[in-house]
Amino acid sequence: MAGASATLDSPMTTEIAPAPAPVASPSPRPRIFSGIQPSGAPHLGNDLGAIRNYVKLQWEYEAIYCIVDFHALTSLHDPDALRTRTREMAASLIALGLDPERCTLFVQSHRPEATELGWLLMTVTPVSWLERTPTYKEKKQQQPDDVNHGLLSYPVLQAADIVLYKASLVPVGKDQAAHLELSREIVRRFNTLYGDTFPEPQAVFTESPIVLGTDGVRKMSKSLANTIDILAPPEVVTRQVMGMVTDTKRILRTDPGRPEVCNVCQLHRFFGDDFEEIWEGERTARTGCVDTKRLLAERIIRHYAEARERYAELMADPVRIGRILDDGAERARPIAEATMAEVREKMGLR
Ligand code: TRP
Repeated sequence: MAGASATLDSPMTTEIAPAPAPVASPSPRPRIFSGIQPSGAPHLGNDLGAIRNYVKLQWEYEAIYCIVDFHALTSLHDPDALRTRTREMAASLIALGLDPERCTLFVQSHRPEATELGWLLMTVTPVSWLERTPTYKEKKQQQPDDVNHGLLSYPVLQAADIVLYKASLVPVGKDQAAHLELSREIVRRFNTLYGDTFPEPQAVFTESPIVLGTDGVRKMSKSLANTIDILAPPEVVTRQVMGMVTDTKRILRTDPGRPEVCNVCQLHRFFGDDFEEIWEGERTARTGCVDTKRLLAERIIRHYAEARERYAELMADPVRIGRILDDGAERARPIAEATMAEVREKMGLR
């Protein structure tokens, strides 16, 4: 097609053309905001479910990404662990492709305006909304001895995170749907009481399906110890992948496999475009589960080889990570300060 070749040619043409005369500044990219828990070095589920998407979106939007250490405190009361996991998450995000020049990456507690705004939003949030939030009910069951107030007001702080930057779009996993709905309700309530201030934030759900853990039944999660730790040393990845549960009905090596229900086969989708061939090998029992796992382990290790190296370099240089995160918090400052000035004015403070 003529159209296709014209498109292919154009980048070359732009490269050699002289810089065009300055024009009116291009329309600003829409702003997105997302928060990620400081859960330490990420597992495969974190990458396929969120981080890959963050990396992609930084090119299309004005992206603000926040490592939410305040939120983490609702379930973790171990200062050393929190510090380490925050640093590991920051290094991982950069190693996996977030460009701190391109997006704004910072740690939640380094930009304290969100806590002030969180308080202000609490005053317009009925307790009943918070008590019926599904994640709150789950957390109450998971940590019955630590049903702290932060767990209840968790979604209000999350709303504050988002609206402090007046972000209109929020890339998140489906598990955040209820939180985002609550954010919208809080915004509507605020705007009704104090005048139009915040845009209603909209969730953009990541397309990737829920990634199951190595047990093949539950969602991949650090607390379930069923993860594939993508930036860990290759022998760890190999051990985790080789330990995966496959099609439990395939007992003999000669039994045909069922790729649709085999988690190893499902993960092959993300690592190479020949997964259908791999599936066919399983179906016809030409290949066994062990072969398919070994291949998956190799591919995961190769796919993340560069990121693993960058991660090691960053972790060996805490000063550099610190500087990157400080820069991010500084870059977020003017937006946060402007919003707070407006909010204080509208609410009758100062
Ligand atoms: N609750 C989110 C999670 O557990 C993290 C989060 C905090 C967040 N603040 C946010 C996500 C703001 C999106 C926008 O994954």
